[in-house]
Amino acid sequence: MATPNSEFADIQGLLWSGYGSLKQACFLLLRVTDAAAARAWLRDVSESVATVEQLRREHVGRAMQIALTADGMRALGVASTVIDGFSAEFISGMAGEEGRSRRLGDVAASAPSLWRWGGAQEPHILLMLYAEENLDAWHLQIEAGLGNGLAVLHRLPTTDMGGMEPFGFIDGVSQPRIDWSGERVPGTSADLEYGNLLTAGEFLLGHRNEYGRYTDRPLLDPAQPGAASLVVAEDDPARRDLGRNGSYLVMRELAQDVRGFWRFIAAQAVHDGDRIALAEAMVGRLMSGDALAPTRGQPIRGVGPNELDIARNQFTYDEDRDGLRCPFGAHIRRANPRTGDMPGGRQGLVTRLIRLLGLGHQDLSEDLIATSRFHRILRRGREFGDRIDRQVALRPDAPDPRGGLYFICLNANIARQFEFIQNAWLISAKFDGMSGEADPLLGNREPMPADHRTDGFSMPQPSGVTRRIDGLPAFITVRGGAYFFLPGLRALRYFAAG
Ligand code: HEM
Repeated sequence: MATPNSEFADIQGLLWSGYGSLKQACFLLLRVTDAAAARAWLRDVSESVATVEQLRREHVGRAMQIALTADGMRALGVASTVIDGFSAEFISGMAGEEGRSRRLGDVAASAPSLWRWGGAQEPHILLMLYAEENLDAWHLQIEAGLGNGLAVLHRLPTTDMGGMEPFGFIDGVSQPRIDWSGERVPGTSADLEYGNLLTAGEFLLGHRNEYGRYTDRPLLDPAQPGAASLVVAEDDPARRDLGRNGSYLVMRELAQDVRGFWRFIAAQAVHDGDRIALAEAMVGRLMSGDALAPTRGQPIRGVGPNELDIARNQFTYDEDRDGLRCPFGAHIRRANPRTGDMPGGRQGLVTRLIRLLGLGHQDLSEDLIATSRFHRILRRGREFGDRIDRQVALRPDAPDPRGGLYFICLNANIARQFEFIQNAWLISAKFDGMSGEADPLLGNREPMPADHRTDGFSMPQPSGVTRRIDGLPAFITVRGGAYFFLPGLRALRYFAAG
């Protein structure tokens, strides 16, 4: 079903765009100190939240977005019966259970007990500010207006690195496209092909997802206070939909050891060209953003018509089944295996069909080679800290730039999308038939149970002998994180009404 224009005014703009043209950004983590005062503030600012409607209609010079944690909803006075309608992982929080931390790889130096934020104490509200210019003045004005209802827990300023992440690679190249016009009909033979166009329900609650179903969310009796202002649930007309047009926002502060990354690489290869080639093999793209896997002639649903998008994203791993161009363990091949999760000959036709139609089991621990369309995320991250280039990073006296990525992604099902990608694909030591390795950028290098090493990286060679590097150090440390809900505007007003 197409998303009507009236809905665009209800959806926060982050679903439409990462605000790439607004180069300045700052994220504020807030705690509610007085529920009534905080709700009054929320009522006021909800009028200034940028929506998809606005982005489609006009040039926007600044934008504000607001998201809440489950703890934040509680602090605002939202009834627990309402909060219980959200997903279990959202309610429990990113750092809420030891088992979840283990599955996400948040152990050792990345353990929540060592985080700067989100570990011992969850933030309540995430306020995201984006501006073309004069962000500092606007930020000060916003803080002055918080009143006595909210306190700033942390300020997370960002750095414009010109579209690159701190290791020096172009970031934000591959994104799934939301089917706003409702042309996707999941579950047909078209799904036998890899596609990049996904139903709105993969990112927005209250809409049909790639299973043709609606993700669980709080549905309220119309007689409940405030419920009458919400829209009728599409799949349950007797109830009102608090989730409609909202998305789960995952945020993680990932510190990147840029010096460590380039120094380790320099120790493996003498010539600069070989060093760059090794770093590119680890990522799966050239530093300029082009894919290592060959692009193909046939179009892919949801890629293009922009030529740069076609040049960078019109590929699957069918043309690189042996991993000779893009190693199986490269970051982008793990993060979105496209068709690489369907290696020829490993499965019968029936198994393949079951997977492609999403009918396989949903057990996260076993579903390691699931079809990628059920595990996509919209990435909206921003960089922080200083940027140094690789030549500087290699100097013995190079400063520590203390840079990294505020990894931010949007999805409708945290367990099936973000957590699955992180656990089963990125940090799994058993991905795609390999062993002894995890994501070359993200792995924490801690051995898995049963003494599986995770610090290797292998690159198949045309000669048939795989080149393997061992002893990769951890290049990334998690410093904070939380699961938020980025509500639709009607839902935001519901939270503000109390
Ligand atoms: C500091 C940490 C990270 C760095 C430096 C990093 C870097 C990159 C780079 C350079 C790309 C290729 C360009 C692009 O398509 O945007 C990429 C793609 C991607 N990354 Fe990451 N990333 C990081 C963390 C993560 C995390 C935590 C996840 C998910 C849990 C993730 C998921 C993805 C996905 C889904 C893609 C696109 C793959 C595709 O569709 O081809 N990344 N990343």
